[in-house]
Amino acid sequence: MAGVYLHIPYCKVKCHYCDFHFSVQTDSKGRMVDSLVQEIEQQKAFFSLDTIVNTIYFGGGTPSIITPEELNLLIKQVYKNFAVSNKVEITVECNPDDLNEVKLRAYRDIGINRLSIGVQSFNDASLKEMNRAHTSEEAIRSIRMAQEIGFDNITIDLIYGVPNQTIADWEKELDQMNQLNIPHLSAYCLTIEPNTVFGHRKQKGDLALPTDREYLSFFNLLRKKTAEANMEHYEISNFAKSGYVSQHNSAYWRGKPYLGIGPSAHSFDGKNRSWNIANNFKYMAAIEKNESCRELEVLKTVDRFNDYLITRLRTKWGIDRAELNQISANYYADITPTLNQLLKDEKLMEEDGIINLTPKGLFISDAILEDLFCLEESD
Ligand SMILES: C[S@@+](CC[C@H](N)C(=O)[O-])C[C@H]1O[C@@H](n2cnc3c(N)ncnc32)[C@H](O)[C@@H]1O
Ligand code: SF4
Repeated sequence: MAGVYLHIPYCKVKCHYCDFHFSVQTDSKGRMVDSLVQEIEQQKAFFSLDTIVNTIYFGGGTPSIITPEELNLLIKQVYKNFAVSNKVEITVECNPDDLNEVKLRAYRDIGINRLSIGVQSFNDASLKEMNRAHTSEEAIRSIRMAQEIGFDNITIDLIYGVPNQTIADWEKELDQMNQLNIPHLSAYCLTIEPNTVFGHRKQKGDLALPTDREYLSFFNLLRKKTAEANMEHYEISNFAKSGYVSQHNSAYWRGKPYLGIGPSAHSFDGKNRSWNIANNFKYMAAIEKNESCRELEVLKTVDRFNDYLITRLRTKWGIDRAELNQISANYYADITPTLNQLLKDEKLMEEDGIINLTPKGLFISDAILEDLFCLEESD
């Protein structure tokens, strides 16, 4: 079981919150696609011979900025170089303003079977605040169009805690999502990244952000509304109706290998992590010369232990005491008193050796993880 992630590093505009790797200079798109094709071939020995690729994920930046023909070329190249499951999940992140009937039909025809639509908000004032390139109306239209064309596996991204957003606004947005009958939601609490417009405004004291109490109300409302829609809260920021859990992200959270193609893309081969340079021109130049632009990190036991804690505690699959002990009996012994205290404080709960966050713990997961992290190599 494995996944292939392809990074498309271009966007039409810079959203005020985003620090992902992308460029708004799109002239090099064609050359970039050629480089991605070439890198897939260069990495054809990345997985062991018996590995089956179950998921292909186009992320960005904005994958819907390249043509369906270019996406198809990349999909075919994955098929040519890896053993791909006949039940493969192929996801494309799309911005609503890029979608039209012709493009959506072409997506369907080339085998794309999951759309991740970047709605971010169903409120025009919030969209404007975030510098999105579309309106709420366009987002709704693109979702309905995709459903009519036959895409049932649709996920949308929403962000809450946006400057000036009220709890009543958030409720309307969640009701709008439920009306559209969308089977999967990624709902992110706005993070203020330093090198963004929001980051600079925060530094100047010019950003009206919710209080901690308000953030908690946003989160509790999110849980209530998604539960009403029969969506399972299966990861801190992810909710799915039965049968619609993201195969790609779930494999990542469960420690399965994935290959990242494109500038800034991260990979994990089952033992070690690596990542490509986050610079479009340096990336293309290296790939064209058949040189590597990957940095490799050989994981120590402490990294594997902490990675397991981060990825598993955030999900419904939770932490398995036996697996922790298997990665490192020493580190497991080190964190056992903290684990037990967190259980006593009802921030964690345990059933059959599997430990999960309680509803109280879900909202403070970052602080809980900080308490649990092991810092030094004592193994
Ligand atoms: C890399 S973006 C790509 C998606 C696509 N380009 C779009 O704009 O819809 C993936 C998602 O991360 C979320 N995101 C990015 N920056 C964020 C931030 N600072 N705080 C919260 N969510 C963020 C957004 O919901 C976004 O849709
Ligand atoms: S949120 Fe999406 S469209 Fe906006 S800058 Fe980030 S990657 Fe680009």
